[in-house]
Amino acid sequence: MSSLLPCRAGGFHFKAGKGNPIVKERIESIKSDAEQLLTAISSIEDLEALRVRFLGKKGELTSVLKGLGQASPEERPVIGQMANEARVYLEEKISSAKSALEQKATAEKLKAEVIDVTMPGKKHATGSRHPLQQVEDRLSSIFLGLGFSIAEGPDVELDYYNFEALNIPKNHPARDTQDTFYINDDVVLRSQTSPVQVRVMEQTTPPIRIICPGRVYRSDAVDATHSPVFHQMEGLVVDKGVTMGDLRGTLELFVKELYGADAKVRFRPHHFPFTEPSAEMDVSCFVCGGKGCRVCKQEGFIEILGCGMVHPDVLRRCNIDPEVYSGFAFGIGLERIAMRAYGIDDMRLLYENDLRFLKQF
Ligand code: DAH
Repeated sequence: MSSLLPCRAGGFHFKAGKGNPIVKERIESIKSDAEQLLTAISSIEDLEALRVRFLGKKGELTSVLKGLGQASPEERPVIGQMANEARVYLEEKISSAKSALEQKATAEKLKAEVIDVTMPGKKHATGSRHPLQQVEDRLSSIFLGLGFSIAEGPDVELDYYNFEALNIPKNHPARDTQDTFYINDDVVLRSQTSPVQVRVMEQTTPPIRIICPGRVYRSDAVDATHSPVFHQMEGLVVDKGVTMGDLRGTLELFVKELYGADAKVRFRPHHFPFTEPSAEMDVSCFVCGGKGCRVCKQEGFIEILGCGMVHPDVLRRCNIDPEVYSGFAFGIGLERIAMRAYGIDDMRLLYENDLRFLKQF
């Protein structure tokens, strides 16, 4: 309280006989001192110190009242009244100064804490899943819902699993369409996800119900519909009494889940060395619904996968007795599904990692 006047507390002594005018003067000077000091006060703490100095137990005005005993009986009520009036007056002054200070503090606080709700927020750069990953996840979730589980196999595969065990011996013409990258005579980059079928069957006693999504490789030149690396999803079911009816029912369910209840499927006989009989499955065009348009090349249907009943020789090679067990298998190209689903006309867009393209999904 450095700005305050020196304290004159400590008891005020009345002089008999001439007490009244002196005391009156004293009370007036306390009042004016206090008022003068009040004008310079700018904090609640200083205000409290001022209150204690003038009105506190040992304060200046209180000391006047304490000295009342020495005054004459006639003077006492007069001085008492004056001192009390001064007290009430100062109390009011202090209390209104206090509310003014509090209001000022609140206003300052509000001003300092003001929030501009129109300021732009801080942007979080959240990525999104690649369209191919979205397709893989969607397909996986449909098959997981049908009771399949996910199996994996190596990208760098033995020639035996990729070809031999699937009824594709050396010099078989099917090797031409699946020409791949050779590490050596016995090791290749897998040209299809079908070898995972063999690996799973070798290690599992039926019932088997798996899908296997993954990368496959072929020595194809890059163009709008070919890439040396692409993705497939294999499916395999082996159990007692599995028939072509199960194959059809399962794949039809899958298609309706993927393309909607109106989607129709069509099976065309085909040849794959590791299934017998084999088929290709088409789905009614989701653009024209089967009438024929540019997307389905006026066919009304679009091919989406190869499938068939697992060849008895393949089962036998995996120590599964074809007299007891039977199974079906299918292989889906994921790029094709993604390109159709999103209307992508050039496969290369899927691998270029151009953010302007990827941000659209
Ligand atoms: N692996 C075959 C391919 O890449 C696709 C395929 C056809 C997989 C029939 C199968 C199947 O499991 O049963 O062309």
